[in-house]
Formats: sequence, structure tokens, C-alpha cells
Amino acid sequence: MTTRVICNIAELTTNDPTLGNETKMGRLHDAAIVVDDDIVLWVGRNGEAPDADEMIDANGRAVIPGFVDSHTHLVFAGERSDEFEARMAGVRYDGGGIMRTVSATREATLEDLFEGTRRRVAELVAGGVTTIEIKSGYELTVDGERRLLEVASAFTEDVTWLGAHVVPREYANDRDGYVELLMTTMLDACAPHAKWADVFCDRGAFSVEEARAILGAARAKGLGLRLHGNQLAHTGAIALAVELDCASVDHCTILEDGDIDLLSGSATVATLLPGAEFSTRSPYPSARRLLDADVTVALATDCNPGSSYVTSMGFIIALAVREMNMTVDEALWAATMGGALALRCEEVGHLGVGAKANFAILDAPRAAHLAYRPGGHVVAETHRASAT
Ligand code: NIG
Ligand code: FE
Repeated sequence: MTTRVICNIAELTTNDPTLGNETKMGRLHDAAIVVDDDIVLWVGRNGEAPDADEMIDANGRAVIPGFVDSHTHLVFAGERSDEFEARMAGVRYDGGGIMRTVSATREATLEDLFEGTRRRVAELVAGGVTTIEIKSGYELTVDGERRLLEVASAFTEDVTWLGAHVVPREYANDRDGYVELLMTTMLDACAPHAKWADVFCDRGAFSVEEARAILGAARAKGLGLRLHGNQLAHTGAIALAVELDCASVDHCTILEDGDIDLLSGSATVATLLPGAEFSTRSPYPSARRLLDADVTVALATDCNPGSSYVTSMGFIIALAVREMNMTVDEALWAATMGGALALRCEEVGHLGVGAKANFAILDAPRAAHLAYRPGGHVVAETHRASAT
């Protein structure tokens, strides 16, 4: 096991309130951190670090915890840039294009799916992401969903079964039949390959009642629960997510006061996906109302070929700050610790002693450059623990 000291850090964000300035950000200046291949061993003042086998000189740059991208749809084939162009010209997004990606994905070879996912994972990691959740949802057949989960499993432990993305065309006249398939044969085939189950509970996808039944069956199979909700309409998805103690309810674009009251005080994280509002030219969710009510907020890319083909958490942070009035620190925390809470994982999203050694060295003296230089290559190096 090799130990490594990263010294001369101008600004170190740990998200550990027992460290540094003892705020939520746990921030230190003129700091050092010592890691081994797996975990953080020591955090403190530069020059006081214990001896280590190797040294990385941060040379006055900032270090942050690796981003936790808690919501992606990375396993797909094809692209839908024509839909993006049409939306920019005024066409409204309604999720209808999902079936185009389903057709392309069904036709793709396993090798092509693996290679496409590998490239997208590499882009995310180059931009500072160290933990990634990946959903299925673009085959909508028993064998197809299982193979998407197998591809996802090559890249992460946080694999999510999203067989309940939309009702596929072949079941257009038998949606109850598809819900039955989801809850029986498909779940049996997919549960061994997934950690989480998700449902797109929205207008044009699945109802609250269908989502409750599907998630209940998934829980009985040992899967953790998450939910897409309130992207396109106010459906009651947030109340369902809180009722079922989902780890996270994602999108939350359309929010009523009652939703915020329910989320506040619950263990369900509100995951905001501003890449989707950007790419569908929709109003952004009201992050300030959530934060001011002490709701735990996460930020994620939602990387998918339809509503958010975004592979940069830096861009997501810039959108959150510019378009949703989050402070830079709120956005940085939501993209790291918030994502970790959305995945109910205590070992990532922070750099306290014992945390996974997942961090990014920025090509900047302060983390604020993530929002201040949108589109720039602000992340210089991404370090992932060997067991990630
Ligand atoms: O999170 N909302 C549902 N699913 C994806 C979009 C899928 C697509 O348009 O291909 C999302 O935005
Ligand atoms: Fe999504």
C-alpha cells in the first residue's frame, strides 16, 4: 500500500465540519492531505503532514472531494441532436424521443454499448467525477434491461434498474401487461444485477399508483429506491418518494409548497438536474426554496441522449450558481456530499479521515473557479481510490 501526501494546497474543501473552518464545507487554507490507495489518512496544515512514500505538489492549487454524479443514463446507443435543435427553436420536451433511443439501443452490439459507456464515463471522470450512478431504461425488455445493467456494472456499483422508464410500443395497448412484466419476470432477471430501482413517474410515463406498485416489488427484492418525479407535471411523485423513503427524488422541476414541507425533515434527497432544464429550455427548479427549507439538495448531470447530454459536473455547478441562485459552496456541496447522500453512501463526497481517497486537484487557487470559468478545463487531475 503506497501512501501519498498532497502538499501546498491553497484551498482544501473537505465537507467535514470537524475540520478547518468548522463549517459545512470543512475548509482549510495552506493545507495538506495524506492518502493511501484507498482512504484518507490525515488532513491538516501544510508542513505538518506525516511522512509518506510519495509527494504530489499542488503548488497553490485547490483540492475538492471528487464529484458524486448520482443520476446518469450512460448506457445507450445513437443520439438525438435533431430534437435538441427543434427544442431550441421552440418545440416542447415531452419524453417522446425516449423510444428512438430504445430502438437504437436494442440494435446495438454489447461491444458498442460498452465502448460508448466507457467514453462517457471517461469524460465524467476527467471532469472530476469519482462516483457514478448508472441507470438502464433504453431497452425495456427482460434480456435487454439485464444486458444494460451488466454493462453498467462494469463501471460502478451504483447500478439502477429503470425498466419503468416508459411503456414500450409493443405494450402500447396493454400497459397493465407491461407493469406486470416489470414486477415479475423483468424484476427477477434484473434485481441480481442492480442495487437500485427507479421509475419515471410523470406525465406520459408512469402514474403514482403504478410507481408505488413497481417500487414496492423492487424493495421486496432487496433493491434501494429512487424516483424521477415532477419533471413535466405535478403528479404527486415527491409525496410518494417521501412515503417510500426513497434515497432521492430527481428533477423536482415543478414544486409546490407541500412538496417542500414533505422533503424537509425527510431522508429523501432532492436531486436537481439543471442540465435537463438547459437542454429542454425549461424553467429551472427552485433550488432556493428547497435550501431555505433545509431540504438536502444534490446536483447531477442526468447524462442521457434526450434531455441532458451533459458530461461535465463543472457545467452543472455553473448552471446551479447562475440559473438557480445557489452559492458556489452550496453547489459544490450538492455535487459532492449531496450526491453521496442521494446514494446513501457515507464514504464518498467528503475528505474526512477514513473517507475514500476520491479527490480532484483544480487548475485554480479556489473552487469558485468551477462556476467562474464555465466550460473551462478547471479540473487538472482526478484521483480515484483503487476500490472505487
Ligand atoms: O431523466 N425523464 C426521464 N428520463 C430522462 C430522459 C430520457 C430521454 O429523453 O431519453 C431524464 O431526463
Ligand atoms: Fe434521468
